[in-house]
Amino acid sequence: MTTPTIAKTGTAVLEASGVTMRFGGLTAVRGVDLTVGAGEIVGLIGPNGAGKTTFFNCLTGLYVPTEGTVSYQGTRLSRKPHLVTQAGVARTFQNIRLFANMTVLENVLVGRHTRTKEGLWSALLRSPGFKKAETTSEERAMELLEFTGLAHKRDHLARNLPYGEQRKLEIARALASEPGLLLLDEPTAGMNPQETRATEELVFAIRDKGIAVLLIEHDMRFVFNLCDRVAVLVQGEKLVEGTSDVVQADERVIAAYLGEPFEGDPGEAEVSEVEAAEAHAAQAAADPDPASTEDSDGTEGGPQ
Ligand SMILES: Nc1ncnc2c1ncn2[C@@H]1O[C@H](COP(=O)(O)OP(=O)(O)O)[C@@H](O)[C@H]1O
Ligand SMILES: [Mg+2]
Repeated sequence: MTTPTIAKTGTAVLEASGVTMRFGGLTAVRGVDLTVGAGEIVGLIGPNGAGKTTFFNCLTGLYVPTEGTVSYQGTRLSRKPHLVTQAGVARTFQNIRLFANMTVLENVLVGRHTRTKEGLWSALLRSPGFKKAETTSEERAMELLEFTGLAHKRDHLARNLPYGEQRKLEIARALASEPGLLLLDEPTAGMNPQETRATEELVFAIRDKGIAVLLIEHDMRFVFNLCDRVAVLVQGEKLVEGTSDVVQADERVIAAYLGEPFEGDPGEAEVSEVEAAEAHAAQAAADPDPASTEDSDGTEGGPQ
């Protein structure tokens, strides 16, 4: 099913160790360890403000972590974003960052500049050197547009694409740097259910090309369907990590999402109230006598 071409399954593609990021007095990420293996899809979840995006920024060189190390395929990553991309780590952003006034195809071609000798400016200015490399680049870019389902929009301006397609284009552009690891920050934010479903398929297809994926996502169904492993970040710290089943069942995770009441009083009174109401409803449904149903509903006033 999985056909990794970049690294053998089982070997670590990404190793983040003790990553801490402080902004003045605020510790946004605290001592986080995370490994992504070849052929893996790993999810990073947690409430808003948990430090997920900050952690991504530490992985990609956008932020220099206050403490900790980040290695890609066994080598310490540079602290310069373009060198991180060149090493093989690509990303998309929570807030879409496309070149709005460039076409779909041009956006993907820009994503390829780390893989072509000619570089970004040459690509943008269409220099003679670039012309030679252009055919190959365009072929590859078109392949990626086919892959992401955007080929028919190649000449549209990025800003005219619907939101869901802009997110796809960001993925196509990230793939254009031929990464071994793709980081997706909330890839389905703002998408409708069909688009979310299509993105799920796309992420599986990316993994099947041998690209490891680390994704931040709020849509729990999406995360638990897709991910081999999920790490939960709460207030900058890794709370739990495990398979989807383990993480879904962990009460600390539920508490982190639902908030206080779960931790303090699990609400015995409320539970028995609900159980009584359910028993009552079941009895009413089983009893075909309308008089008896009406009687217990009306005069008793329900449970309590
Ligand atoms: N550049 C920054 N300067 C100061 N504080 C920041 C910066 N980036 C993020 N933070 C803070 O770090 C915390 C984590 O934010 P973020 O990583 O965006 O969370 P998440 O992506 O999990 O919602 C928040 O309290 C946020 O305000
Ligand atoms: Mg975020």
